[in-house]
Amino acid sequence: MDPLPEKIVCIGAGYVGGPTMAVIAERCPTVEVTVLDQDAVRIAAWNSGHLPVFEPGLAEIVGRARGRNLRFVEQQAGLAALAEADVVFISVQTPTKTEGEGAGKASDLRYVEACARFIAEHARGHTIVVEKSTMPVRAAERIQQVLASNRTGATFTVLSNPEFLAEGTAIRDLLQPDRVLIGGEDAAAVATLQALYAAWVPSERILTTGLWSAELSKLAANAFLAQRVSSINSLSALCERTGAEIAEVSAVVGTDSRIGPKFLKASVGFGGSCFRKDLLSLVYLCEHHGLPEVAAYWQQVVDLNEWQKSRFAAEVAAAAKNRRIAVLGLAFKKDTNDFRESAALQVVRSLLRSGCEVLAYDPQVDGARFISELGISAGFTAVSTARQALAGAGAVAVLTEWDEFRTLTWGEAALAPGATVVDGRGIVDRAAVRQAGRGLRVIGSPPA
Ligand code: UDX
Ligand code: ADP
Repeated sequence: MDPLPEKIVCIGAGYVGGPTMAVIAERCPTVEVTVLDQDAVRIAAWNSGHLPVFEPGLAEIVGRARGRNLRFVEQQAGLAALAEADVVFISVQTPTKTEGEGAGKASDLRYVEACARFIAEHARGHTIVVEKSTMPVRAAERIQQVLASNRTGATFTVLSNPEFLAEGTAIRDLLQPDRVLIGGEDAAAVATLQALYAAWVPSERILTTGLWSAELSKLAANAFLAQRVSSINSLSALCERTGAEIAEVSAVVGTDSRIGPKFLKASVGFGGSCFRKDLLSLVYLCEHHGLPEVAAYWQQVVDLNEWQKSRFAAEVAAAAKNRRIAVLGLAFKKDTNDFRESAALQVVRSLLRSGCEVLAYDPQVDGARFISELGISAGFTAVSTARQALAGAGAVAVLTEWDEFRTLTWGEAALAPGATVVDGRGIVDRAAVRQAGRGLRVIGSPPA
C-alpha cells in the first residue's frame, strides 16, 4: 500500500469541499488537512458552532477533527500550507457562463483558473492537483497550461476525482460511497490519492480511469439521474390526464432490476447546484464537438424540467382564489439549507409576478438569503413556522419533501375557506387534507 500524503490542502470551503475534507481528516488522523477559502465569513462560520453548511452528521465529524488535523483558514493565511502540500484539491464553483462564448450553457471556469494561478504561484516542489469540482471534459488541459506557466520551478500532476455526494446525505455518501473515481495518467499520483481513500473505502470501490473519462463520467452520471427525474415527471402529467397514479407507475417500473427504484419520484422539478448546470455543460460540449442531435437529446431533459416547474406554478396560481399562497419548502430537497436552482425560486417568482402574496416557510433556508436570490421582495414574506404560512392562505404549495410536511395537522391549519393544497412532492397526508375539508391536487395524481 502506498504511503498516505502528509499534508493536503483544499481550495473552496463550500458544500463539497467542507464536508469532503472533514471526512478525510476524520478518517485519516495522520494527514494534515487545511481548507482555504477567500470568503472570510464562510471560514469564520466553519470555525464556529454554526457551520455554513447544514448536513446531518457533519457537525459531529467537524467537531472531532477540527483543531486536531483539520483547519479552516482564510486564503492568504494558508500560503505556507499550500507551499508544503503534497496534494491540493480544487473545490470551487463551476457555474454556467453568463457571458462570452457558450453563455447560458458552458461551464464558467474562471474560479478554477484563479485557483490554478494561485497554486502555480505558491506551490513548491511536486504537487498533485486534484479536480474535485465538476468540470467539462478536457478541463484538466486548461489547468495544466496555467500550472505550467509558473515561475517557481514547481512541478504538477493533475488528477480528476469528481465528488458524487448528494446534499442532505453528504456524510453517508462520503463514508460509504458507491464508488470513488480517480482519473489520471500518472500512476504514482493516482496511487497516492488511492491510499488516502483506502483508509476507509474498500479497494473494489475505488475506480481508476483515464483523465477524460473521469471528467465525462461525472457529467454523465448527473445527466442520467436528471434524465430519470424528467422521465418520471413527463409521465406525471400523463397520469393527471388519464387516471393513472404516478407513485404506482414508479413502483412498478422500479421493481425491474434492470431499472431499479431510485430517482423515480415525481416532483415539481429537480433543483440543486448540479443537474441543470451539468446538463447544460454536456449540451454545450456536444454542440462544440459537432453533435447537435446528442445536444438536443440532453437539452430536452432540461426543457421538460422547466415545463414541469411552470405548469406547477400555474396550477397553484389558479387554485388560490384569494391570491394568498403558503409555500412550504424553499430548499431544493429535504435535509439541506441549499436552495440553488430550487423549484421554489421559479415557482415563487412566477406567483409574485402574477400578483399573488406569498408566505413561505422552510425549516433550514434563511429567508433573507432566499429573498436576495429571488430578486423581487414585494409580496414575499418568510415566516418561521408552517402554521404561520398557512394562516389565511387560499392555496398551499408543497415544494420540498421535508418530513414535517408529511405529518401536518391539516385540521388545525387556519386556511382560507375553499383553500386547496397543491402537493408538488406527493407527500401530504391525503386523507387528513380531505377530512379537513380542503381541496387537494397532487403532482402525478388525477384530480379526485
Ligand atoms: C446530485 C447527484 O445526486 C450527486 O451524485 C452529485 O454529486 C451532485 O448532484 P444533489 O443535487 O445534491 O446531488 O441532489 P439529488 O439527490 O441528486 O437531487 C437533485 C434534485 O432532484 C432534487 O431537487 C431532488 O428533489 C430531485 N429529485 C431526485 C426528484 O425530483 N425525484 C427523485 O426521484 C430524485
Ligand atoms: P460547491 O457546491 O461546488 O462546493 P460552493 O459555492 O458551495 O460550491 O463553494 C465554493 C467555494 O469556493 C465558495 O466558498 C467560494 O468562496 C470558494 N472559492 C471560489 N473561488 C475561490 C478561489 N479562487 N479561492 C478560494 N476560494 C474560492
